[in-house]
Order: sequence, then C-alpha cells, then structure tokens
Amino acid sequence: MAVKDLREWIDEIEKMGELTRVEGADPHLELGGLVDLFQWDMENPALLFEKMRGYPENYKLLANVLTSMPRICQSLDLPTDLSRHEFVKVWRDRLKEFQPIPPRLVEDGPVLENRQVGDQVDVTQFPAPFWHSEDGGNYLGTGNIVITKDPDTGWVNAGTYRIQVHDDKTLGIMISPGKHGRIIREKYWAKGEACPVAISFGHDPLLLLMGGLEIDFGEDEFAVAGGIRHEALDVISAPYTGLPVPASAEIVIEGEIPPDQFHAEGPFGEWTGYYASGEREMPIINVKSVVWRNDPIVLACLPGKPPNDNTYFRSPLRAAMLWDELEKAGIPGVVGAWSHEAGGGRFFNVIAIKQMYPGHAKQVAHATTAIHAGAYANRYVVVVDDDIDPTDTNEVIWAMCTRTDVIEDVDIVKRMWSTSLDPMAYAGEGGARYYNNRMLIDACRPYDRLATFPPVARKTQEEAKELRDQWPELFTADGKVRKGVTKVTKH
Ligand SMILES: Cc1cc2nc3c(=O)[nH]c(=O)nc-3n(C[C@H](O)[C@H](O)[C@H](O)COP(=O)(O)O)c2cc1C
Repeated sequence: MAVKDLREWIDEIEKMGELTRVEGADPHLELGGLVDLFQWDMENPALLFEKMRGYPENYKLLANVLTSMPRICQSLDLPTDLSRHEFVKVWRDRLKEFQPIPPRLVEDGPVLENRQVGDQVDVTQFPAPFWHSEDGGNYLGTGNIVITKDPDTGWVNAGTYRIQVHDDKTLGIMISPGKHGRIIREKYWAKGEACPVAISFGHDPLLLLMGGLEIDFGEDEFAVAGGIRHEALDVISAPYTGLPVPASAEIVIEGEIPPDQFHAEGPFGEWTGYYASGEREMPIINVKSVVWRNDPIVLACLPGKPPNDNTYFRSPLRAAMLWDELEKAGIPGVVGAWSHEAGGGRFFNVIAIKQMYPGHAKQVAHATTAIHAGAYANRYVVVVDDDIDPTDTNEVIWAMCTRTDVIEDVDIVKRMWSTSLDPMAYAGEGGARYYNNRMLIDACRPYDRLATFPPVARKTQEEAKELRDQWPELFTADGKVRKGVTKVTKH
C-alpha cells in the first residue's frame, strides 16, 4: 500500500522491525557518526533521532533510510522480501506497464500548520547536523527535493541537491552541471532573473527516490511518483513561489537563487566516499518563506564511502533503468543488468547479453555508458554473456579474467560527463573537474569463437537440478547444501 507521507512510512517500517529510535544525540558529529557506523553494513535499521541536543524537543530527524532492500521495496510499493536479483526483474515489469499520474492540486495541507515570512524567517531552527568531521558546515538538505519550474515550458522538476545552512535566511545549494535543476536555473539567470525555488525537507521516501534518480528531461517526478503509487500525489501551491510541493511535506523552504550572489560551500563527505569537491563558491538561496508541520521530521540521506544511503537504492533501480533504456534504444539480447554497490550505483555497470551478432557486445558497452541512466559519473562498463549473473561479483570477475583480450576487448572513452565529486575527474579549459575517462570491457566469449570456446567445467543448472532431486538428503528445497549431514546412502 502506498503511504501518504513520511509519518506513515515510518509507521510501516517500525511495524516491519526496521526502525531504531535514538534519543539525545548531538547533531554535531555524534549523530552523523552513528549514521556512518550504521552504514558500514547495509540492511541495518533506519534511525529516528529524537530530542536532539540544541533543537526543540519535538523536532526529529530520520536517517539511514534506504539502506535495506525491504525498505526500498516498501517505498516502491513492492513485496518486501525480494532479493536484489528478483527486484530488477519485478521492477522492469513494473516499468513496462507504467503510466504517470499527474499530481492533484489541493487547497490545504498539514505543511501549512506553521509559517514564517520575511524578517521572521529562521531556517536554523531545523536540525542541520554537522555530519562528517571534514565537512565545511551544517547540512539541512541531504534527503530533500528541490522544486523548480522551467520558465519556457512550465515543466516542474524535482531533484535532490545538497543544501548547506549559511545563516538564518541563507542556504547554499550545490547542483552539478547537466542536472535538470541547474539547466532550469540557468534559464532564469540568462535573463538576469533570480530562480524561484521551493525545497521539501521531509516527505515520503519515494519522492527522495524520484529526486535522486535520472528521470528524463521534461518529465515530472511527482507524476512518476503518482504512477508508482497508483494514486495522484496531493500538492499545494507553495505560498511564496506558487511551486507545487507535497501537501503533507514536513518542512518547505522557499526563496530565490540570484545570479550574482555566491558563498563558500562544502567540503562535504560525498557518495563517492571522499570530500572530493572541496570548498568552492556556490550559488545561494535567499529564503523568503518557511512552512512546516507541527513536530517536523527532517528526512536525511547521508552519503559516504559506498554503499551508503545515497547509493544503495541506485544499484537495483539503475540496473532496471539501464536495461529498459537499452531496449528502448533498440538493442536486442539484454538478459540482465547490475550496477555494483561499491561503485555507488554509477561507476561500475554490468550488462549480461545473449550475443546475437558480431559487435553486439561492444554496441551494448558503448550504449550503456552514454544513455541517460548510465552517462553520469560512470567509470567501467562490463558486458558479460548470459551464463553470468551480473549481480554476482565473483562471476563477473571470472568472466573478465577468462573471456577478455585486454587489447581487443577494452575501449577507453574520454571526456565524459562526470562530477567534481569524482576524485579522478579532471577539468576542461581552466574550469572545475567535471570530465572523466572510462573503460568499457567486453567480457563476453569472442563472438567468432562461440562454437569452439572451451566449455565451462561445471554442472549446468539442469544437470544440477537432476542431481539434487536424486539426492534430497544432501540439498535443501532451494538448492543449498544441507548442513550437518554426516552420511547418506543411495536408495
Ligand atoms: C541523497 C542524494 C543527494 C544528492 N545530492 C546531489 C547534489 O548535491 N548535487 C547534485 O548535483 N546531485 C545530487 N544528487 C544526484 C541527483 O539528485 C540526481 O542525479 C538526480 O537525477 C538529479 O535530478 P535531475 O535529473 O532532475 O537533475 C543526489 C542524489 C541523492 C539520492
């Protein structure tokens, strides 16, 4: 069942045994430290921080949100017991029948329970932790969504971009080149105008997933969310900008990004696992209005060494998106995909194919690094045969080790779309480090040798099933070896 807002989502995951409440943590490094430790392994509970030091007793912060498969599935209205492998298939089926449902504009919503405007505005009231020891300041926005409207077409975009607190009426915003929010912002700036912006800091985590994923240019993330929930998202017109914001958001801050005012921003420990972008002059938001619910909850999403909250959900979702986009590009034969967790769901993408013609594997490799779902901050693409499970690192590396000629099967692609958060990105003419180089690896058996390539020295799945059926004392129903069996005799 789709949830209405963050509070219903928290109730659901608490019932699933996936929530730990923590009282009295200090938002200066201690809170971030705890979240960091909970992210050393995935599948730990989400953390709801209550009665944080230095903030009103009724203000809360939720962290370590999308770091478990059951919680990711819950957010996408899927069965919560799917394995990663099953998830990709189920999600692909959902994408095939998917229809967006535009948001529904309503008059009122709980987000309007409290308001500050003009001189009253004080954004420092909301919990903005100092997360990692080398950060350059306090970040209120890590799991937020930034809503902007294209001045030419009226298209509304929602993207997740980090938000630093500079003072009670000023925020910093870091949007990488090529991101839709930045393209929209630049349209206002080209006319000498400030870009109006509304930011939600607490919402159904589905909206965070939408804000943080590469939804196509011109598509409305709220409509995509509606399609996933099978129900329109209720939005109100935010009181200052008129931009649509979730009616049951926890906190919405509105303001403008002027073309001529900048402030030092960062460093911030990021999803690549480094404080890579350092401190730079970045645009600011002059805050004009704040609305919030009683007892507001900030939704946080802490990046760090991957996998982390910012990246774990990307692996299965990106895998499904890559597969889908390759098919839409007219490429046949794709049978599986994965985006490795250690690569933050971007750097290391694996596609499995049933080879159909000479050059097929190279076509897949080059397309994967260029399509929307795979273009940004990728480093390796590995294409494997259909007998390799792309989610299984051992199998992928075995294919790379035994099916790749490192002269013929490896291509380097230069000056691709990356980010200053990538420590190996480099600068163009005197600018910031936004380009990277990539390696595309064809780890499929050479097409011309398919008929003569050495056979694999392992039982096929069919042979294995036959043997297991004959020796049920040795194997469990799901095909695993039974533990503790000391002797069996063939009857
Ligand atoms: C938790 C989280 C934080 C993110 N922070 C940033 C950020 O600070 N700046 C940025 O450019 N992209 C950031 N991203 C990536 C973008 O949100 C992502 O690329 C998304 O597709 C952008 O939306 P857009 O395609 O509408 O621009 C973040 C993603 C997540 C999930």
